Amino acid sequence: VNYLQPKKREEIVQVLLQGLQRMEYRGYDSAGIAIDGSNDLNDMHSKVALLRKTGKVSVLEDFIKELPPNSLDMSMVLNVHCGIAHTRWATHGSPKDVNSHPQRSNSDSEFVVVHNGIITNFKEIKEYLTKKGHKFESETDTEVIAKLAQHVHDRYPGVNFRQLVEIVVQQLEGAFALAFKSTKFPGQLVATRRGSPLLVGIKSTGDLRSNNIPVLFSKGRRLFSSTATHLRDASFTSENQSVLNLSQSMISLTPRCPALDSADNSTTSTKALHSSSVIEEELGIEYFVASDASAIVEHTKQVIFLEDDDVVFVEDGTLSIQRISKLPTDGQANDVQKREVISLNMELQEIMKGSFSTFMQKEIFEQPDSVVNTMRGRVLPNGQVVLGGITDYLPDIKRCRRLILVACGTSYHSAIACRQILEELSELPVVVELASDFLDRQTPIFRDDVCMFVSQSGETADTLMALRYCKPHGALTIGITNTVGSSICRESHCGVHINAGPEIGVASTKAYTSQIVALLMFALTLSDDRISMQSRRNHVVQALRELPEMIRRVLQLDSQVSSIADQIYKEKSLLVMGRGFNFATCLEGALKIKELSYMHCEGIMSGELKHGPLAMVDEHLKICMVICQDEVYKKSLNALQQVVARSGVPMIIADESVPLSDLAGMKQVLRVPRTVDCLQSILTVIPLQLLAFHIAEKNGFNVDRPRNLAKSVTVE
Ligand code: G6P
Repeated sequence: VNYLQPKKREEIVQVLLQGLQRMEYRGYDSAGIAIDGSNDLNDMHSKVALLRKTGKVSVLEDFIKELPPNSLDMSMVLNVHCGIAHTRWATHGSPKDVNSHPQRSNSDSEFVVVHNGIITNFKEIKEYLTKKGHKFESETDTEVIAKLAQHVHDRYPGVNFRQLVEIVVQQLEGAFALAFKSTKFPGQLVATRRGSPLLVGIKSTGDLRSNNIPVLFSKGRRLFSSTATHLRDASFTSENQSVLNLSQSMISLTPRCPALDSADNSTTSTKALHSSSVIEEELGIEYFVASDASAIVEHTKQVIFLEDDDVVFVEDGTLSIQRISKLPTDGQANDVQKREVISLNMELQEIMKGSFSTFMQKEIFEQPDSVVNTMRGRVLPNGQVVLGGITDYLPDIKRCRRLILVACGTSYHSAIACRQILEELSELPVVVELASDFLDRQTPIFRDDVCMFVSQSGETADTLMALRYCKPHGALTIGITNTVGSSICRESHCGVHINAGPEIGVASTKAYTSQIVALLMFALTLSDDRISMQSRRNHVVQALRELPEMIRRVLQLDSQVSSIADQIYKEKSLLVMGRGFNFATCLEGALKIKELSYMHCEGIMSGELKHGPLAMVDEHLKICMVICQDEVYKKSLNALQQVVARSGVPMIIADESVPLSDLAGMKQVLRVPRTVDCLQSILTVIPLQLLAFHIAEKNGFNVDRPRNLAKSVTVE
């Protein structure tokens, strides 16, 4: 939404398309846009153009390029242009145009909505609305939301757009982030969330930071800034206006509400302005609402992360955030909401591919730097490890009954990778749980448990639900995430950001290695007062310092890995075997290969070999074995012998200290540097990340967006 210098409709469409492209990694079955106005110039105010296509965002983009010239160029017909857009990862209904978002209430698109999440009671609502005469065209759960909006509007013609959305969402069960538009309310936008992430970006063309005490206030559609120092705590209201008071990084948003727009308030604000002889500077402003900061970071870094049940309402140059009121039609004002404006620490180039062909490849090669970013300022020169986000809670953590780590996918593997060192350094029982199974079992949780939630995105629905399950049991909750402002980091008591930088490739790579580093640092903080562990700790800290250089050396194996991929990329199956600290590498390496190359690939604990998997082994089966000179070295060699005895010829990932004689007869050996046992899995997993990448590339598969998968799964 742009005020003051209204962009052409075409430009807004470009902004939306670009945003969709940045978000495509989160879903890419189909994409769509709805924007004010139709192709009929005379009918601008009562239409919404709806453009939807199955397939990638580029398909939608090509479709838009083919539209008749000037069909989107309606710049000056409306002062305000507002559009919504969506890229879909199908949950209800296969990917096809009619199931794409925005979903509409009727063929005139009177109400259109985009939705992330799942509406669990959509069948009941659909039944109700069908009885009322609504005809459904899609198989989606989302269509009920658009039709319900229509129904509420027809029933309560007097309610404004925000109130209408409040009534609608109170009927919904499940998880959602929603953005609505309507031909009945042109130029307006309402967005809300429950369970799925949503943020607001604010971009101004003026200097909001002058004097460090920026104040923004709007007059109708115009927005001004002030630099007057004593305005620090002033909040402005004047007739018929909403007001933004951006003071000390807090934005308080006063709703358009007659009760608050009293004459007194109005006078106060005017006085404050006059007495300070402020410099008023006219600003242009654009509001962005998105489920992920990467969609908007090239426009603004000033964002507000919304909470569940916040309702964002944009109308006539003003933005307000309110809580969903209990009685939305009673006309009472909601509480004015204060929300912190966060300055994102994310650079555009971080979400660009640079010289790499894919994000995944870029992220694999970033790992020498991303692990440094995870450690930055936390591993002190004296060997002490300080994690600021948990310091206050450390005494409680050390006293706990057990540590429970809950996660999904790759994040779960990082917890497996660190379980042993956590047990060793904390001397506590450590349990690692898959979030879905943890919830299915309704696992008993006690108030002296410490529950840790590991999640790159901080939004994975299963992990978030597990966190919400643990809190009422009184457990201390810790979030380990890569996404500042994410639901898991906001809702846990304390946490550690892994600071790996944005990860765009759907298959997680650098977040995995940074999660291991973060969990290892956590283990070190738990043992900082144990004299008996001092030498072990020193050894681990020294290895952490050497880690970036060692990762650089592993990355030099790239061409060797690529030639191995040449030989196996058409195989149907691959087993990855190992044990001890390297078992996590087997699970994670196999997951990478499955995700990207659609090849059957299994991570096998080599201790289990003789209990089943050995039956599959023959001269044809492709096998990879991870063998390092650690506590389980002899057992690993034993597993190798069992495989060789069945004519297996495995490819080996070994550390440099493993003698050649122990690997006699092995044709493919990838050597990684040797490090301390608990960090070794970082060095052994990288060749498998590279292998997965090369196998997928050689098969011509989409490396960044493997079929059927999404980066952030915000549905259970
Ligand atoms: C999805 C992604 C995986 C990821 C998992 C957990 O399945 O495709 O790459 O490991 O979610 O995501 P999280 O953001 O919680 O780490």
